[in-house]
Amino acid sequence: MRILAIESSCDETGAAVIEHGRIIRSNVVASQASIHEQYGGVVPEVASRHQLSALIPVVEAALREAAVGWDAIDAIAATYGPGLAGSLLVGLTGGKALALARGLPFIGVNHLEAHIYANWLRPQGADVSDIPADPESVTWPGDPTFPLLALVISGAHSELVSIPRHGRYELLGQTRDDAAGEAFDKVARVMGLGYPGGPAIQRAAEARDPSRKNPFRLPRAWLKDTWDFSFSGLKTAVLQLVEGAERGADAGASRYAREGAAQSDDLSIPDLAAAFQDAVVDVLATKTVRAAQSLGVSQVLLAGGVAANLALRERLSHDLAPLGIALRFPPVALCTDNAAMIGAAAWFHLRLGERSGLDLDVRPGLQLPFATPA
Ligand code: KG4
Ligand code: ZN
Repeated sequence: MRILAIESSCDETGAAVIEHGRIIRSNVVASQASIHEQYGGVVPEVASRHQLSALIPVVEAALREAAVGWDAIDAIAATYGPGLAGSLLVGLTGGKALALARGLPFIGVNHLEAHIYANWLRPQGADVSDIPADPESVTWPGDPTFPLLALVISGAHSELVSIPRHGRYELLGQTRDDAAGEAFDKVARVMGLGYPGGPAIQRAAEARDPSRKNPFRLPRAWLKDTWDFSFSGLKTAVLQLVEGAERGADAGASRYAREGAAQSDDLSIPDLAAAFQDAVVDVLATKTVRAAQSLGVSQVLLAGGVAANLALRERLSHDLAPLGIALRFPPVALCTDNAAMIGAAAWFHLRLGERSGLDLDVRPGLQLPFATPA
């Protein structure tokens, strides 16, 4: 089955042609990051208008790059939530209209489920000689193996999810305030590092001299005996350090600084970025490793934009390897918003005969379809 998939939940417009839920024939993303950078974050009204102008050219580019015509497409999929209502409306309406015009089956896709299913995609150009005789069979060699634990970390979500089998999601814990990506974005903004914040903080942190002890040690909210997260206290700590430095006083800084390095005139952005990233990675990794052990899984999946973070990947791989637990994560381009992952998730539903009606509406606050833990 060959699916044309569309993603438009935020500020990226994506279209992809995906075969058998795993093989990427094309994956086109038009990013508005440079537009929103000047505002320090996504402006919803601006985002939806750009979705409108980008959608059809991106769909045409996806078909062109896949070197297929409409006759080669078996179904259309589009994100219906969660995300910004105006942005979602563009891709969903476009997808439904194309399905109607071409007489093709249509399915709406949950963006969070799609982030998880990015782990089923084969990297573009990868060897696919091991395709099973029946390419529509549910399990392929090299697929993630159930039961799984997924850490879903994006701009608006931070969740630890147990996935015993396809389609079943049991919520272990989630953020009580800011999502991990949101914290990266807000902290980057106060540090003047621009948007999106995650890659900017990672770059700033990589610029520091690792042989020198970091003078900053930022707080971690452990929320003991839960799998929940909280990042707002950490965000506030960074804000106070930066504001303290801007006021020319080191009073605000002194609470979290060590060895006097947070003096008003030498607040080192690389040090602070690294201390922030360390604190986020420490909490995410520690809880994920414990949850993986307690569930007895042999594989952990990273999903969502923050899964692109190299420090997190390294720390988790390092901590899980001695326990015999494998860490899987998509290539960076498939961690952040893209339509290939929408095609992957869509395939697992379409192959079961699931379809969406053309009256499907956007669901900006959509969650994963959580089941009660057994
Ligand atoms: O999944 P995503 O592309 O969009 C949503 O569904 O929200 O996630 C976007 C988030 C942003 O907060 C961005 O700063 C963060 O992912 N992100 C990163 C990195 N790349 C993107 N965070 C940390 N390190 C990165 N390398
Ligand atoms: Zn996303």
